Amino acid sequence: MIAGNRTINYLRISVTDRCNFRCKYCIPASPFTVIEHKKIARYEEILKITKLACELGITKVRITGGEPFVRKNIFSFLEKLCAIECLNDVSITTNGSLLTRGKIEKLSYLGIKRLNFSLDTLDPEKFARITGRDRFQRVWESIITSHELGISPVKINAVVLKGINDDEIVDLAALTLDFPFHIRFIEYMPMGDSAVEKGQQMLTQEIKEKIESRFGKLTSVKQTDNDGPAKKFKIAKAQGIIGFITPISSHFCDDCNRLRLTSRGTLRPCLLNNYEKDILNPLRNSASDDELKRIILSALTKKPSFHGLNDLSSKTIPISHMTSIGG
Ligand code: 5AD
Ligand code: SF4
Repeated sequence: MIAGNRTINYLRISVTDRCNFRCKYCIPASPFTVIEHKKIARYEEILKITKLACELGITKVRITGGEPFVRKNIFSFLEKLCAIECLNDVSITTNGSLLTRGKIEKLSYLGIKRLNFSLDTLDPEKFARITGRDRFQRVWESIITSHELGISPVKINAVVLKGINDDEIVDLAALTLDFPFHIRFIEYMPMGDSAVEKGQQMLTQEIKEKIESRFGKLTSVKQTDNDGPAKKFKIAKAQGIIGFITPISSHFCDDCNRLRLTSRGTLRPCLLNNYEKDILNPLRNSASDDELKRIILSALTKKPSFHGLNDLSSKTIPISHMTSIGG
């Protein structure tokens, strides 16, 4: 599938809007409701849409949430998903709190070899303050177990916020000395009414300077197909990689190869723009495969050439929250 000059081969599927965590930067500050169960795409509906998207050129899928592992029977869904022939890459973004050794083994058996964990701090108390849950130890165990079981790469996403975890940038970066992890520092994106203030946002330049003042100049690492928007670097002699995801300081829309399917069964060509196209209801109303494919293609024609997040007067500032879109 082509959108402008970009080839779209990557579908991010949010299987649920629910999460067992309450991360400050993700969950709305004011009361919010979850989506009614009957409005959430059933697994067979997601599989059907994915197969059609594959026929249009999707080869990579990432499963996101909310937290994907809160959804019942996720493993039988993953098994069917991994069996879709034209998909050559299935990965998952998780908070890691519900994974066990047995589950990680199952993922590996299914061919899911790449996991992204969300982890913003190595301090259990701070972890509880950021996520609203006292689960640092569980998450850390999942990360280490994944590494031991051959998940590669293990990627760790850290949203850096001033006055919250900016004092841990160096410690998080130092993990790459001991482990082949990819530690990815993500610039906070203001999404509607989160409990984070704009002044707490920390941009990549400043994060990178902190790392370089401790470890010396970072060397740039060649990008591969699976890097997404992360710009990759290495500390000298490190096993792992440091990535910077810069939605604010340098938008990467020109290279964006992704389409999103939300848990409500809408297609979203851009995370940071509220345009969505419903595909679930046409599917439930017996639209033909060709009609559904046309819906997918027409959603892509709405892929904006860039987002307006760094322009605060822009009308494109998103009002949806990450937990309902899937990051
Ligand atoms: N800004 C930047 N990143 C965010 N995430 C969630 N909310 C935000 C936000 N407002 C990240 C989490 C998770 C990924 C799916 O999205 O760190 O790893
Ligand atoms: Fe849940 Fe991830 Fe959002 Fe945290 S960032 S609340 S773990 S979906």
